[in-house]
Amino acid sequence: MNSPKHVAIIMDGNGRWGIKNKKSRNLGHKAGLKTVEKIIKSTIKNNVKNLTLYAFSTENWKRPYLEIKFLLNLLEFFLKEKIEELHKNGIKLKIIGNTKKFPKRIQINLKSAQEKTKKNKKLQLILALNYGSKSEIVNAIKLIKNKNIKINENSINKFLYTKGIPNPDILIRTGNTNRLSNFLLWQLSYSEIFFVKKMWPDFNGRDYKRIIDKFKKIKRNFGKI
Ligand code: FPP
Repeated sequence: MNSPKHVAIIMDGNGRWGIKNKKSRNLGHKAGLKTVEKIIKSTIKNNVKNLTLYAFSTENWKRPYLEIKFLLNLLEFFLKEKIEELHKNGIKLKIIGNTKKFPKRIQINLKSAQEKTKKNKKLQLILALNYGSKSEIVNAIKLIKNKNIKINENSINKFLYTKGIPNPDILIRTGNTNRLSNFLLWQLSYSEIFFVKKMWPDFNGRDYKRIIDKFKKIKRNFGKI
């Protein structure tokens, strides 16, 4: 049986859940953060060592200003109020994406949260923030070219944000939408993909465990027979 080392999640459906249940997209995001906390705990329980969450894409800047502000406030709240608990539970925080576009205050919080938790070993929580896969790949190729290094899979792996992190074994996308939305296109090339109808705020530990158990039974042959 295969145990997953890395689960990546596209947490889709907050907005629709919020409109349906609270008449507000932003309250859907707030409920989504509660699911984030639950799923972090379940990840540890299931002994998975890396969890990547797509929290803000390069395309999310196109949303209304007030929604962007709400999402950034939630991120700031998470970094300030939850970091101590993450740290106590042995969680290492790692950010992937171009965070230079975020307000300075958040950049400082991101940096200090990563510094504080860098030696933790129980779980690596990878937050994708202002992340876009195509720009990540282009950026890697530019860096390789500048350094005059040979372009191959190995060198590209080394210049992606995910350097040193095993590729996701599992990708979960909630929200009843079957697409990748510019998320980890390179790293997901052999991942098992699970599309879930539930909106992210309704996704729970049982749904998650069911996916992990299903994954464990899959025979993965990576192109061989
Ligand atoms: C996609 O749902 C979700 C996001 C763009 C944001 C995800 C953010 C959170 C779960 C909360 C903050 C998380 C952290 C870790 C601080 P959508 O808004 O596109 O949903 P829709 O498709 O129904 O509109």
